Amino acid sequence: MKIKTEPLDYRVALKLLLLNLSLFFLYPAAMAQQAAKPLQPTNFTSFKPGVEWDANDGVNIDCHGGNIIYVDSLKTFFWYGEHRGLPRGAACYSSKDLYNWKNEGVVMEKGDIGTFERPKVIYDAANKRYVMWFHYDGNGTGGGGYTLAEQGVAVSNSPTGPFILKGHSRPNGHESRDIGMYFDPETKKAYIGYAADHTNKTVRIVELSADYLSFTTNDFDVNAHCEGPGILKKGGIFYLLTSQCSGWTPNPGSFYTASAIMGPYQDHGSPFIGDAGNNSFNSQPCYIFKVPGYKDAYIYMGDRWNGGGRPESQHVFLPITITADGKMEIHWLKEWDLSIFTPEAKRPQRR
Ligand code: DGJ
Repeated sequence: MKIKTEPLDYRVALKLLLLNLSLFFLYPAAMAQQAAKPLQPTNFTSFKPGVEWDANDGVNIDCHGGNIIYVDSLKTFFWYGEHRGLPRGAACYSSKDLYNWKNEGVVMEKGDIGTFERPKVIYDAANKRYVMWFHYDGNGTGGGGYTLAEQGVAVSNSPTGPFILKGHSRPNGHESRDIGMYFDPETKKAYIGYAADHTNKTVRIVELSADYLSFTTNDFDVNAHCEGPGILKKGGIFYLLTSQCSGWTPNPGSFYTASAIMGPYQDHGSPFIGDAGNNSFNSQPCYIFKVPGYKDAYIYMGDRWNGGGRPESQHVFLPITITADGKMEIHWLKEWDLSIFTPEAKRPQRR
């Protein structure tokens, strides 16, 4: 049987064509308008732990599990972390005062890297470049994203990227997942604390090479089953702060002390004082930032994952106190600012 087809009326065809063209041009513009809020600097004067914290793009700072560095020559703080929204990878935000942040965008897209977590950046002043280390892992579900257990290293000539992947491997053959970074301003040496073998049954600390691009064999087993390591040094004592291992669910943290970075370490239990939920004030440590210009000013940086690593996960920033008898304490503050720290005495002027 023959099917009779009518020729398409040219007026109908023209209308269809115009409709398609307008959709083609107008739809993306409308979507972009919906997605992008106008850029506007914020005007915060304090930290409010656990509360949505917007950058200049009007969106909660999507920068998790990372660290902050201060680049003296630029008089600027840079905050790096996991960008949990799209594109996935490492986010960078910049600030002059630690309260107000400008979104500098995704400085390294994860591309075909399966799991990209906890980036930490260090500035290599000698070579004028920025080095990023991160948890580099595989693809897959059911733990498949955590079995490769390596660290990746990437480099950029600018703090705002792009960071280019240079390699990835296990430090001295050990499994590596959550990482933390410590830079010793006196020796200029850098160390990575990492949740290591037998699926994080211990944390290890490895010293990096002088150019921060590779591991040395100086690699110590802390012998502690934990994640989220952060390190500070005060009065010749090293303090290692960690969470326990419970996925995205918060748990009570622990701190350890040692008189050398390579241990041996002694466990002192949780530093979170008055922590009613016994869950590190509903957060997991990612870094300890020493604020320049103040005496013993250490900021606990934690992520409130809310059971999953979502872009809107809140940040928990709190001051860390080292008591006269050498204990680490972190107290809850609903709101606080840098004035709780003592400014460093200015050096006397030379004549
Ligand atoms: C806990 C780690 O600390 C996070 O970085 C992330 O790897 C989650 N586990 C995944 O469950």
